[in-house]
Amino acid sequence: MDRLTVLPSPTDVALASARAVAGALSAVVAEKGRCRLALAGGSTPRATYEQLAVPDVGGSVDWTSVDVFFGDERMVPPEDVASNYRMAREALFERVQIPPGNVHRISGELGAEEAARRYVAELGAEPLDLVLLGMGDDGHVASLFPGSRALEAPHAPAVPSEAPVPPHSRVTLSLPVIKSASVVLLIVTGPGKAARLREVFGERRSGKVALPAARVGSVTGETDWFVDAAAAALLGEVA
Ligand code: 6PG
Repeated sequence: MDRLTVLPSPTDVALASARAVAGALSAVVAEKGRCRLALAGGSTPRATYEQLAVPDVGGSVDWTSVDVFFGDERMVPPEDVASNYRMAREALFERVQIPPGNVHRISGELGAEEAARRYVAELGAEPLDLVLLGMGDDGHVASLFPGSRALEAPHAPAVPSEAPVPPHSRVTLSLPVIKSASVVLLIVTGPGKAARLREVFGERRSGKVALPAARVGSVTGETDWFVDAAAAALLGEVA
C-alpha cells in the first residue's frame, strides 16, 4: 500500500517526513521495546535528519532503544565528505542522545567485500522496522542502480555494488531486505526527479515494476512517499 504526501517545498517535506519518522520510531519502540532503522544517504535526507534532531519534532524518540543502520554507503572513510555516515553523524547523531553502540555504520574504509561481510554479520537476520530511502534521477534507491547485479538474486542481505557516479564502489542493502521492512519511507524532492517519479508510479500502478524505486515497496506494510510539488509535478493520474 502506497501513501503519497505532496508538500509545497523541500523544507515542508523535511519537516513532514521527520515527524513521520519520529512517530514511527516511537510507535515501534512502544510496541517492541526496540526499533531497527535504516537511514538513506545522499543529500535530500539531511534536512529530514536535522529536523528529527529538533526537540519539538523528534523529541519523543527514545534513541537508546533505536538501532540505526544504513541503506547504503560509499566505500570511503567515515570522515570523508562523501560518507553517508558522516552526513548522518553531523545532521543527527551529534544532536541527539544516541549511544554510539546503537549506530551500525558500513565500514567504508575497508573496501566493499569486507565491509559487506561485516555489515551482514552486524545486521543479523531480524527484519528492519523502518527503511528511509532517497531516489536518484535514474530511479535508483540505496545503491541499487538500474541494471546492476546487486538488484538481482542477491546472495546476501547486503552486497557490494558499483555506482555509475563516484564514489563508484558501494555497499548496499539488498532488495529483499528493504522490502521486508514494515515501513519503507521515500523522500524525493526537486524538478529533476519529476519525470522519473512519474515513471516509477506508473510502474507501481501497472504492476510491471522494473526501476529499483518501483520495486522497493514494503511487502507486508506501508510504503510512504514524501514528495515536494516540483518532484510531483508530472504525476497526474498515475498517483
Ligand atoms: C547515496 C544514496 C542514494 C541517494 C539518491 C538520491 O548513497 O547516494 O543512498 O540512493 O538516496 O542518489 O540522492 P539525493 O538525495 O542526493 O538526490
